[in-house]
Amino acid sequence: MQLYSVLELLHQDNKLPEVEIKGWVRTFRANRFIALNDGSTINNIQCVVDFENTDETLLKRITTGAAIHIKGELVESQGKGQNVEIIVSSLDVLGDAHPDEYPIQPKKHSFEFLRENAHLRTRTSTFSAVMRLRSNLSFAIHKYFNDNGFYYMHTPIITGSDAEGAGEMFRVSKLDAKNPPLTENGAIDYSKDFFGKETNLTVSGQLEAETYAMSLGKVYTFGPTFRAENSNTSRHLSEFWMIEPEVAFMDLPGNMDLAEDFMKYVLTYVLEHNREDLDFLEQRLLNEEKTKPQAERNDMSLIEKLNFVIENNFMRVSYTEAIDILRNSKPNKKKKFKYPIEEWGVDLQSEHERFLVEKHFKCPVILFDYPANIKAFYMRLNDDGKTVRAMDILFPGIGEMVGGSQREERLEVLKEKMAALNIPEEELWWYLDLRKYGTAVHSGFGLGFERLVMFVTGMSNIRDVIPFPRTPQNAEF
Ligand code: 4AD
Ligand code: MG
Repeated sequence: MQLYSVLELLHQDNKLPEVEIKGWVRTFRANRFIALNDGSTINNIQCVVDFENTDETLLKRITTGAAIHIKGELVESQGKGQNVEIIVSSLDVLGDAHPDEYPIQPKKHSFEFLRENAHLRTRTSTFSAVMRLRSNLSFAIHKYFNDNGFYYMHTPIITGSDAEGAGEMFRVSKLDAKNPPLTENGAIDYSKDFFGKETNLTVSGQLEAETYAMSLGKVYTFGPTFRAENSNTSRHLSEFWMIEPEVAFMDLPGNMDLAEDFMKYVLTYVLEHNREDLDFLEQRLLNEEKTKPQAERNDMSLIEKLNFVIENNFMRVSYTEAIDILRNSKPNKKKKFKYPIEEWGVDLQSEHERFLVEKHFKCPVILFDYPANIKAFYMRLNDDGKTVRAMDILFPGIGEMVGGSQREERLEVLKEKMAALNIPEEELWWYLDLRKYGTAVHSGFGLGFERLVMFVTGMSNIRDVIPFPRTPQNAEF
């Protein structure tokens, strides 16, 4: 006998006299039909039990969530809903799941409830589909870069520098929190700490990735990043994964082309490789839509939305144009924005981003050339002296998906910007060296992986697209 996965058996064209399968019971109907799932696919395989010749105590143990081992014959299905099924010849319960205790019963559970049971939630169709998509998306990302001549670089997770300059970092320290060593003027003496300096979990691998771009040419990082911002929103995590390509001799338009091509590639990849999961999630969303008032319903289904992004150009709009559009927009004039747009130079809030993408352009938008003083120190200053070569890519339903820029490659300009922001040169001496020796135009961006998974799966809360979300006041599991 050979052990198969559900996926393998469902794609068998031939009848097989002897198959073996292990999985978890999804449902057991009429003391006869087991819907069995092993995670290999969204679909279950039906296993037909000969209940008349099966011990009653054994039948009682076939409950939702139980792990079982089945041997039998794969035949064409007699019933509707599946092509093949297994006629069970022997059945073992490997692990019981008592119905009075097992939380994941075959009924509709709220996502809040499932979040509290995140260790078991991938036993539901929705979460297993989301996580298979997450896995294949990350494979597609590596494949894209590998196929396009990029090298994968592992940037450090513990770092001494604040790449984004936002100061929202998690400290990494071995000092005694109750009684830390102090300097003469009473500050905590980090020279006595493990690394001999203050260190944190990284907010971005970009600065280190730049060093490799300036030697290996085309590189990317794809790893966890950490932000201690206290934003309890459906789009923020304290620990999330970021994809950051960095390319030497590439300018901002090249950066936009790369981001657009890359995103279209990974969306195409999952449409081709995860169709059943996407079909399931699309149906889930359609059902959810039916419960909403007409005005709030989406005009596109999940798969239509993915195809729309693949088939259409992203709109490229400068910050200055965007401000004009927003200033003259209906919600601004009718004072519907919480943060009204009055002057050039303000940072855009998510209400503004959503207006641009969802109401005005109705497609992904690349906003570029932002005011220098709302963006990080490393972005290249434009000749106007007040904007930088930044780009943000905004997606419908998500808002900011990508943040990137052409980097400031001129030593003197970079030093001036750092001085203006009180960033000590000693801290980033190695970063400045890149501008001293063989400097060149280079660019890159960061894509928030979970926001991409949200877009692809149609999930509306970022906590539902990462296995074990870390958010303020929450690090369970
Ligand atoms: O815009 P950000 O802060 O850009 C950077 O970190 C640059 N160093 C990237 C680069 O140029 N190499 O973050 C990039 C993306 C955002 O657009 C967003 O998608 C995601 O990371 N992101 C978050 N995702 C989940 N939770 C959070 N708290 C996030 N903060 C940023
Ligand atoms: Mg950003």
